[in-house]
Amino acid sequence: MKKILITGATGQIGSELTLYLREIYRNEDVIAAGHKREPSEELKNSGPFIFLDTMKYSEIDEVVKKFNINTIYHLSAILSAKGEENPLDAWRVNMDSLINILEIAKNYKCQVFYPSSIAVFGPTTPKENTPQEVVLRPTTMYGITKLTGELLCEYYFNKFGVDARGVRYPGLISYVTPPGGGTTDYAVEIFYEAIKYKKYKCFLKEDTYLPMMYMPDAIKAAHNLMEADSDKLIHRASYNIQSMSFCPKDLYLEIKKYIPEFEMNYEIDKVKQSIANSWPKSVDSSCAEREWGFKPKYNFNDMVKDMIEKLSKKLI
Ligand code: SER
Repeated sequence: MKKILITGATGQIGSELTLYLREIYRNEDVIAAGHKREPSEELKNSGPFIFLDTMKYSEIDEVVKKFNINTIYHLSAILSAKGEENPLDAWRVNMDSLINILEIAKNYKCQVFYPSSIAVFGPTTPKENTPQEVVLRPTTMYGITKLTGELLCEYYFNKFGVDARGVRYPGLISYVTPPGGGTTDYAVEIFYEAIKYKKYKCFLKEDTYLPMMYMPDAIKAAHNLMEADSDKLIHRASYNIQSMSFCPKDLYLEIKKYIPEFEMNYEIDKVKQSIANSWPKSVDSSCAEREWGFKPKYNFNDMVKDMIEKLSKKLI
């Protein structure tokens, strides 16, 4: 029987993944762990919630023993733009917590999900339809930690048999919990501002294309990969995935179809723009499709329509 721990459960991915897994498994078997942020009522009331500092091995050890955990979705991390404000913090938080989780997984035979990122790529990586196997020379601390994380997951698998699996998430768009400190966050903020104020000041240039995905597909991808036949996984902890690629101008024009008064102007954030410039415009997901059946449902138009509908209801 699955006994699941989700770290970073109050974050952008975790808050939705927890509820998704509680639909599939028994609520009491999906333990949500946050660090500082208070959980939503829904998260707190639908199953166990605990506070956990993943930088402390002994704290994770206690939780894993108490709840007999055998599966860990390790989502807590510092994102790209925030990571550039304090790179040492990003290294410590992202790496210390992952190595603790992998050690726990080794000692208690847990399966691990690890969210890597398009940030593992760098300025020398081909930008269009970026292949799975390619130059990996990230120039952000976040990207360096994510790439190191992929290597660690593979090392723990090869050396100790730890079943650690992961995807390289593109920018994720969602209406439940806003992201914090990422370069792709504009693609979420824009919806809140468009619905509330009919205007948005974008921090990336209008033609900055990036790979993206709608949250329901991101969550399903995580679960499907964890359920996939282990023997078929060649790129176990580092799958490229995306379901769309667009730039701020494309998004502005699509939102304007629903909110005709919407206006957008630009105030470029130098750090975020240079991070975005170092990432691919689109990635090739064919290994994920072949090896575990990755198949996203939402394209760009579906995503915008659903975001506007759901967020309009939420913001009333
Ligand atoms: N969305 C993340 C960020 O912008 C990328 O993994 O930092």
